[in-house]
Amino acid sequence: MVAPAPSARPLAPPLTVERLSFAWPNGRLALAHCHLQIPRAGLWMLVGSNGSGKSTLLRLIAGLLEPRSGQIHTAYKTALVFQNPDHQLLLPSCSSELLLALPDGLSPSERSQRLQRALAQVGLAGMAERPIHTLSGGQKQRLAIAGALASEAQLLLLDEPTALLDPTSQAEALELVHQLTHRSEAPLTALWITHRLEELQRCDGAAAMEHGQVGAWQNGAHLAAHLAQSLAPLQGGRAEG
Ligand SMILES: Nc1ncnc2c1ncn2[C@@H]1O[C@H](COP(=O)(O)OP(=O)(O)OP(=O)(O)O)[C@@H](O)[C@H]1O
Ligand SMILES: [Mg+2]
Repeated sequence: MVAPAPSARPLAPPLTVERLSFAWPNGRLALAHCHLQIPRAGLWMLVGSNGSGKSTLLRLIAGLLEPRSGQIHTAYKTALVFQNPDHQLLLPSCSSELLLALPDGLSPSERSQRLQRALAQVGLAGMAERPIHTLSGGQKQRLAIAGALASEAQLLLLDEPTALLDPTSQAEALELVHQLTHRSEAPLTALWITHRLEELQRCDGAAAMEHGQVGAWQNGAHLAAHLAQSLAPLQGGRAEG
């Protein structure tokens, strides 16, 4: 076998999580020897029942929580996008919000250029001075994503980003992240948590999380069909007595 030329060597995976465990102060174990590897840039989705540990996993990857044991490997800067943009957007206008996210050390003209570029990338061009409270829910969520872009994050961690959006805004946010993760130049990596099974159709891989562990990557459409089938007997009746 001929060794591959250095340029043909595969890149390191964007994210590897190994044997990650985490317990809350009350002793509740939220993650138990959790493994997860994102093999390449793209849009990767996690589904799972309430309390299975999805949000806890994202917070650990983002560095907001300290694991009890295990490891997280990523060479990328991460950015979290929450379900409710009102919990994320702090400042009064689009421009002030994005200026906060920009890295230090840029000249005023670079700051202005990057701000305009981040807004244009999420379809909010020309809205720099708009007060945030005048944005729709979908626009706020896209502004939160613009903040992640302005911060130069390459790994987006999105925790049910469309749960509060109407169907049109939901589709726009999904298409935006799909486009950012499939562009030809420097595609981003996104880990997207959802309870909306139809979103799985757009991902590069989907995995189910249960009891603090993530299953293997599957085809999103297949996993959605499987989950819809297993939920079908519950439709119209209570899941538990
Ligand atoms: N601050 C906290 N203190 C104690 N336990 C917590 C805390 N936050 C979450 N938990 C517990 O950790 C477990 C995992 O919660 P997590 O929020 O990660 O679940 P999830 O999969 O995101 O659920 P959902 O789909 O409802 O968002 C749950 O049992 C939850 O009650
Ligand atoms: Mg959650």
